[in-house]
Amino acid sequence: MTRTRPKRLHHDEVGPWSELKLEILRKYATAYSTILTEKGFHHSYVDAFAGSGHHLSKRTGELIPGSPLNALDVKPPFDNFYLIDLDAVKVDELRKLTADKNNVHVFGGDSNSILLSEVFPNIRYESYKRALCILDPYGLHLNWTVIAEAAKLRTIEIFLNFPVLDMNRNVLWRTEDASGESVVRMNAFWGGESWRDVAYSSDANLFDIKEKQTNEVIAEAFRERLRTVAGFKHVPEPAPMRNSKGAVLYYLFFAAQQPAAEKIVTDIFSAYRKRGMLHG
Ligand SMILES: C[S@@+](CC[C@H](N)C(=O)[O-])C[C@H]1O[C@@H](n2cnc3c(N)ncnc32)[C@H](O)[C@@H]1O
Repeated sequence: MTRTRPKRLHHDEVGPWSELKLEILRKYATAYSTILTEKGFHHSYVDAFAGSGHHLSKRTGELIPGSPLNALDVKPPFDNFYLIDLDAVKVDELRKLTADKNNVHVFGGDSNSILLSEVFPNIRYESYKRALCILDPYGLHLNWTVIAEAAKLRTIEIFLNFPVLDMNRNVLWRTEDASGESVVRMNAFWGGESWRDVAYSSDANLFDIKEKQTNEVIAEAFRERLRTVAGFKHVPEPAPMRNSKGAVLYYLFFAAQQPAAEKIVTDIFSAYRKRGMLHG
């Protein structure tokens, strides 16, 4: 008889760019919770790709809190927390870490379906519910339907990881041999196939040869989709998150319905740009 050993928790190692992301999210979550508490709104924190709760910092070699634990620490506190991860070991760990809190709801499974069926229906406009939702997958694992529903509800603000490196590697740099599966994931993330017209254009050359467009062009087109197709009224310029060699790994997008939300995020991004920590 073969015995399968239970999987052990393995903390993700994170680079300085992830620590910067965590700082940005923590700052905004604090501002958000302060304002919504003052206004008397019941407000929730939703982390759809939550991780295990801790990461290993490459910089210091120490364990650091991940986005859900940072949110649990925000003062004034959120009223409710919805944490989702696909990895059963991480989900067990999240359950252990939050066992003493009855306002924390931990789900194991694909957040694309759990958000739509179990979480978003609780955040209704008429009942003065609001939520800050973090959509932070490693790669192309998010579906546009989630983004569109968050915008439609008008109660949910999102931070979104736009995984341009994964897109380039698996789809955009290799259209001919991109596997069917990568293209399916790209279509699901983008919400259709219009990325093809954006990513390859002959506009800028004389010979009518389609050229791969820059990351900036692709990110700007997605920003436009968040506004005009999904229906978020306020989508500031995203923050490019770069590795130590300066390559953009992903863009951190924010989208909301309130002008004040856009202003706060723009101020946070500008402060990091001024300190030389965000370029571009
Ligand atoms: C970048 S990590 C999240 C890090 C976390 N937001 C933080 O900053 O502390 C991405 C997580 O998404 C999870 N994941 C991947 N696909 C998923 C899916 N379809 N639904 C839910 N979680 C998923 C992975 O197991 C992983 O823990």
